[in-house]
Amino acid sequence: MPSFVAMEPTTQYELRLATRMSRLGTETAFEVLNKARALERQGKSIVHLEIGEPDFDTPANVVEAAIDALHKGWTHYGPSAGLPELRQAIAEEVSRTRGVPCKSEEVVVVPGGKPIIFFSILALVDAGDEVIYPNPGFPIYESMINYIGGRAIPIRLREERDFGLDTRELASLINDRTKLIIINSPQNPTGGVLSKRDIQDIADAIGDRNIMVLSDEIYSRLIFDGEHHSIMTIPGFKDRTILLDGFSKTYAMTGWRMGYGVMRPDLAAHMTRLMTNSNSCTASFTQVAGIEAVRGDQSSVDNMCLEFKRRRDAFVAGLNKIKGFSCRLPKGAFYVFPNVQKTGWPSRKLADALLEQAGVACLSGTAFGDFGEGYLRFSVANSLENLNQALERINRWANSNL
Ligand SMILES: Cc1ncc(COP(=O)(O)O)c(C=O)c1O
Repeated sequence: MPSFVAMEPTTQYELRLATRMSRLGTETAFEVLNKARALERQGKSIVHLEIGEPDFDTPANVVEAAIDALHKGWTHYGPSAGLPELRQAIAEEVSRTRGVPCKSEEVVVVPGGKPIIFFSILALVDAGDEVIYPNPGFPIYESMINYIGGRAIPIRLREERDFGLDTRELASLINDRTKLIIINSPQNPTGGVLSKRDIQDIADAIGDRNIMVLSDEIYSRLIFDGEHHSIMTIPGFKDRTILLDGFSKTYAMTGWRMGYGVMRPDLAAHMTRLMTNSNSCTASFTQVAGIEAVRGDQSSVDNMCLEFKRRRDAFVAGLNKIKGFSCRLPKGAFYVFPNVQKTGWPSRKLADALLEQAGVACLSGTAFGDFGEGYLRFSVANSLENLNQALERINRWANSNL
């Protein structure tokens, strides 16, 4: 359940919040970042490995396209579902990368990947409906399911399966109340990647039941070993898949706020209504830059991926030399998720100690659900030099405290 910050009342009027607010969770990364910044203000040196965003600049051609769009007056409202040309560019990109034909009316452009999670759950889940989601997993899934009044059914991702899904377990969790299944590959926080076989097994476990799948593929371009596979490509699943992807991670555009969902056109129309009710539209000049991102030179994406791979290799090798730590090589995204059970420390306490005593900010595995106990998440979206410094600091801390 969510944790709350107790605040001093500032007025004589009691704040009468809706009950559902007590069920809304959060993303701990932002809290740890604030704590780390507070320590820095006190003069402490911190290596930031807590936040999940590329440390690279947005590619110059994309920045130029946005500046040009601003000068050309792309500063007004646009269609709620997104600019037709961007929707078309995304439809072509998804058709090419996933190997299934997609049309622009199946694409809804939204401010970031997160609104697709929010809108999918809002549009599909009634109170009491069950939603199966990965745990450890991106914390917003559980938060939104609870917020809407759905029943959050975790499926445990196990290290010994390389953090893939146990499809027999998945099959045992599916029942008549299951409305939605969320999958995520490459995965946050584990870096796990679902293989073609895994995806086929998941599809087999669902069979021909009328259950929607929210396939969070926001890290689809950040794969180091093997290929990306989407459940959308399995025959019979296109109509039951909501594909989530976006610009934040692929093009280092986290602050621009732009992502998209690809889904059957009738559901896309409902999502568009949710957009009209909440945001009106995604920023117009941002979308013009999005067309350049999708259609323009992709070398920066490939270079970023190569660099993350280099850092992953170095950081995992370094962690595996530290007392109490053991770490698998993640196949995608830019996170590493070491097992720290042999330290004998609970994850949260260990993450706090590393921040306060070693000057390394990371996240407790439990920030991603109860099954994250025994693990930490480090983001390798930082320079090799800083990653090496973090390793040195953790090693020193482990040698004197374990
Ligand atoms: C698995 C996953 N899905 C979705 C998102 C949201 O992405 P955005 O910043 O585009 O909203 C994130 C961001 O960290 C993520 O890790």
